[in-house]
Amino acid sequence: MYYDGLDRKELESRLKAERERLENFRAKKLDLDMTRGKPCGEQLKLSEPMLDFRYVGSGISDSGTDCRNYGLAAGIPEARKLMGDLLGVPASNVICGGNSSLNMMYDTLATFMLYGVSDSESDVPWSAVGNRKFICPVPGYDRHFAITEQMGFTLVPVDINPDGPDVDAIEKIASSDDSVKGIWGVPKYSNPTGYVFSNECIKRLASMKCAASDFRIFWDDAYTVHFLKDEPAEQLNLMDACAAAGNPERAVLFGSTSKITFPGAGIAALAAGDNTYKFLLSRIMKQTIGPDKLNQLRHVRFLSDKAGVVEHMKRHAAIIKPKFEAVIDIFRKEFGSPGNGILRWTEPEGGYFICARTQNGSAKKVVAACSDCGVRLTPAGSTHPYGIDPTDSYIRLAPSFPDVDQIRAAVEIFSICVKIDALEKLLAG
Ligand SMILES: Cc1ncc(COP(=O)(O)O)c(C=O)c1O
Repeated sequence: MYYDGLDRKELESRLKAERERLENFRAKKLDLDMTRGKPCGEQLKLSEPMLDFRYVGSGISDSGTDCRNYGLAAGIPEARKLMGDLLGVPASNVICGGNSSLNMMYDTLATFMLYGVSDSESDVPWSAVGNRKFICPVPGYDRHFAITEQMGFTLVPVDINPDGPDVDAIEKIASSDDSVKGIWGVPKYSNPTGYVFSNECIKRLASMKCAASDFRIFWDDAYTVHFLKDEPAEQLNLMDACAAAGNPERAVLFGSTSKITFPGAGIAALAAGDNTYKFLLSRIMKQTIGPDKLNQLRHVRFLSDKAGVVEHMKRHAAIIKPKFEAVIDIFRKEFGSPGNGILRWTEPEGGYFICARTQNGSAKKVVAACSDCGVRLTPAGSTHPYGIDPTDSYIRLAPSFPDVDQIRAAVEIFSICVKIDALEKLLAG
């Protein structure tokens, strides 16, 4: 334990010193935002050339698609190929949609709620399953949990480990109850831990026995090329693993260029097994006469292909890696190692977040204390279903947006607040 061996007097003097440090920061009246994983201005600039008219040109794609007009509900062939290459699936199974993968996840769930997962007579719409449940690896992404909560699922948390969610627990839950309809997963550089699911975990998710024949894995590969090291981590493709296990319709994959080009103005895609692809596309064709193909066109021309995306992501990494390093540097200076007893943290090799873990019962207090000193953090609890972290210990840190000096100040304040909380707890016995 970090303060082991210190007597009361020493603890009091440490507390006084930390409080003084905090007051010095408070006097600076800082306003630092580490709440959401947004690219910073320098990152957005990387894609600025895409706004140039030449990337759209006449609006006719190289394969001859007229992107100026209605049509092609599944997106233009070049964009489907590009997104398919990023998601590791053939273009023929990819639907390129609008500007948001979250939107596609929402619509896919809504479709399953209204019609079931296929056109089969035997399929029951999920909305007709009164006690429907969805498995939520924790800590996880608040917006995933919010979608399934809004659609009336009971959210079933399972722990996530550095090699992926606890598959033993998932197998038990999924095999014993046919009202368990699916699971969320962010397989690479997960939100908020940065964990990369192991191939073993992926194989087991693909092949496990599920009581519900319409069990679906919502595989949000949002950070598939968002590496901070030299190359994206290699990972078994879930779709291939599902096909190999005889469950070709089990997974629906999602991704977007939100954090490759422009959040809110990128291109999003889903990929599914042959039947699910056809089924979803038939519903999408009632929703829209086609996506924004001009945006798809300029993305394809700007990014070219997967190799082009990887090169582009190297430039992103060069901007945000020092920010992640700044967080970890401050933590190591303040606490030594993550095994110090009062704060643990992840040291991701990609993605947009670092997940910090305080002592149980401290996260809300630390977040409030930081806010009081001008550092805004994602609310404690948001990493868990219903916004309730039963351990009150997880805090998501998003270092991409502020500059390095701001991050250093914010993380120092955060560290001081963690220490003050720990010292107060010790002194209170
Ligand atoms: C895991 C995850 N999925 C999806 C999104 C949003 O993606 P999009 O902009 O494509 O809707 C985010 C944004 O932070 C995210 O962290």
